Amino acid sequence: MSTAQFPVLVPQQPAPPILTGQTAIVTGASSGVGQGIAITLAQAGADVVVNFNSSEKGAIATAEAITKLGRRAVICQANVTQEPDVEKLFAKALAEFGRLDILVNNAGKQNDAMLDEMTLAQWNDVLAVNLTSMFLCSREAVKIFKRQGINPAISVAAGKIVCISSIHDLIPWAGHVNYAASKGGALLFLKSLAQEVAIHRIRVNGISPGAIRTPINTPAWSTPAAYDELKKLILYKRIGEPEEVGRCAAWLASDQSDYLIGQTIYLDGGMALYPGFESGG
Ligand code: BGC
Repeated sequence: MSTAQFPVLVPQQPAPPILTGQTAIVTGASSGVGQGIAITLAQAGADVVVNFNSSEKGAIATAEAITKLGRRAVICQANVTQEPDVEKLFAKALAEFGRLDILVNNAGKQNDAMLDEMTLAQWNDVLAVNLTSMFLCSREAVKIFKRQGINPAISVAAGKIVCISSIHDLIPWAGHVNYAASKGGALLFLKSLAQEVAIHRIRVNGISPGAIRTPINTPAWSTPAAYDELKKLILYKRIGEPEEVGRCAAWLASDQSDYLIGQTIYLDGGMALYPGFESGG
């Protein structure tokens, strides 16, 4: 079926105010999906610690967008693969806001190569940023959430963790084995942690985005030819936007989703539904 007849519409509605009075840390919030999530959580009413590793400029842009929305933003440089940096990040959140309600484990990267050309450094780099960071940050968040307990004026849960994985925790990805392995790890990390901490009223859930318009995948959407190729993999025939991941994260972090534990939402325009079978098979 030709897609020319479909207008490529992207919803513009801001997130509803479902996080009023809550505070959040978003890792890797200086660009792309992390920036979209940080701004959308603020639209939903949260104050946000905007973590970045190298792009202070990007983090400042995120923080400016948040303060324009009337929310508080604090930027914090921390390499989330390093224990002391992670401790510093969480200490700063508590020092600035006095409490923590939400952690979004978003920091992620690709460092692509075919397996027989992949160095150990490339493997370790991607595993550290995409998976070890989730362990280090979630550990600090869980300690704080357990200590804080529930404040029903703020949320019926003691704390919420949202892990940003990828469609490639499900769909294998040749040429990207480090990335796919890290995301597959993230999928069972979040489910196992959810099982472990639900008794403390700490909720852990995940989002596995498909193709989202960000710097990580610019070659896949920035020319008409590349975008046409990409759309063959997407039933809904358009790329996703960072704010759309943000709206999903805001809902997962809110009491609206209080009964949801250890689940992953595939936010992908149907990429996981085997687009090749739309007409084949
Ligand atoms: C990757 C993108 C890719 C998308 C769909 C994401 O996890 O980071 O580069 O476009 O998956 O394949």
